[in-house]
Amino acid sequence: TRKIIIDTDPGQDDAVAILLALAAPELTLLGITCVAGNVPLPLTHVNARRVCELAGRADIPVYAGCDAPLVRKLVTAEHVHGKTGLDGVDLPAPTLPLAEGHAVDFLIDTLRREAPGTVTLVPIGPLTNIAMAMQRAPDIIPRIQQIVLMGGAYFEVGNITPTAEFNIYVDPEAAKIVFGAGVDLVVMPLDVTHKALVTAPRIAAFRALPGQVGPAVASWTDFFERFDKEKYGSAGAPLHDPCTIAYLLQPDLFTGRHINVEIETGSDLTLGMTVADWWRVTGRAPNALFIGDVDADGFFTLLTERLARL
Ligand code: BDR
Ligand code: CA
Repeated sequence: TRKIIIDTDPGQDDAVAILLALAAPELTLLGITCVAGNVPLPLTHVNARRVCELAGRADIPVYAGCDAPLVRKLVTAEHVHGKTGLDGVDLPAPTLPLAEGHAVDFLIDTLRREAPGTVTLVPIGPLTNIAMAMQRAPDIIPRIQQIVLMGGAYFEVGNITPTAEFNIYVDPEAAKIVFGAGVDLVVMPLDVTHKALVTAPRIAAFRALPGQVGPAVASWTDFFERFDKEKYGSAGAPLHDPCTIAYLLQPDLFTGRHINVEIETGSDLTLGMTVADWWRVTGRAPNALFIGDVDADGFFTLLTERLARL
C-alpha cells in the first residue's frame, strides 16, 4: 500500500479527505500534520483528532505544526467553516493526545527514515509546514514520491480574493517554495473541485450510510454548502480536499495538463494567484499536473462506497 502523510487545517472538507484516506486499504496514513488555516492551529489539531476518533482510529499520530504563515499574518475562514472549523456536527473533545514533537520534524524524520520515493505528501491547507520542512532539510526533497495538493485556481478564479484560492493565498511564500521544489506535483485547483459538488441526492446517500461517519459527513456538507450556495449560486458544496485522496485511489477519474504554474508573491492585487500556463504560451518548464476536470459521479460513487466501510 502507498504511504501518505496528510497536512491539513480541518475544515469539513479536510475531515472528509481524512475519512476517505482512513477508509482506503490502498493507503497507509503514516500521520496527520496540522497547520493554521481555516481556523487557528489550536483548533485544527483538535479537529484532526476528533475526526480520527470518529473513524475509530486513535492509532493515527496527529502533530501540531506551524501556527502562522512563513512571513505573513494568518488569514482564517470562519465565514466558510464556522467558529470551530468543523461546525455542523458536535463531536466530543478528543481523548487521543497530540503526538509529541513538531509536525515539521515529523515530516523531516519520516522522509529521512522511509526508503526514498515511497512517501507521498497530501497537503490540503496552506503549505507552511511543507515549505518549512523543505527549507530546513533540503535533503528530503528528492525523497518525496509525489505531492498531491489542493490549492490554486485558474479559469475558476479565486475564492478569497478575485484571483487567489484560499490555501495558496494564506501562505504564498510557502506555495512558491513547494511549486519550485522540482517534486512530482499534482494540483487540485478550484477548477476541478467546483465540479465535485455535493448535491441533495449525494447528501442523502451519505446520510443513509450505516454507522456514525456517513451522517456526520452529511451534516458537515449541509453546513458548509450554505456558503457556496449563497455566494456562487452553485448546486451544492464543493468537496475540495477529498479530490486529492480520490486521485490517489482512482486517478483515471481526473484529467489535467502538465504545465508551468508560478505563484504570485509580489503584487498586492493578485497575491497568491496561481499563474497557470494552461495554453503553454511561455517557454517555462512544466512543474505540475494541473487538474481541470473530474468524473463527478465516479468521484461520489467512490467516496460513498468507501465511507460505508468506516
Ligand atoms: C480550500 O480552502 C479551505 O477552506 C478548504 O478546506 C480547502 O482546502 C478551498 O479553497
Ligand atoms: Ca483544507
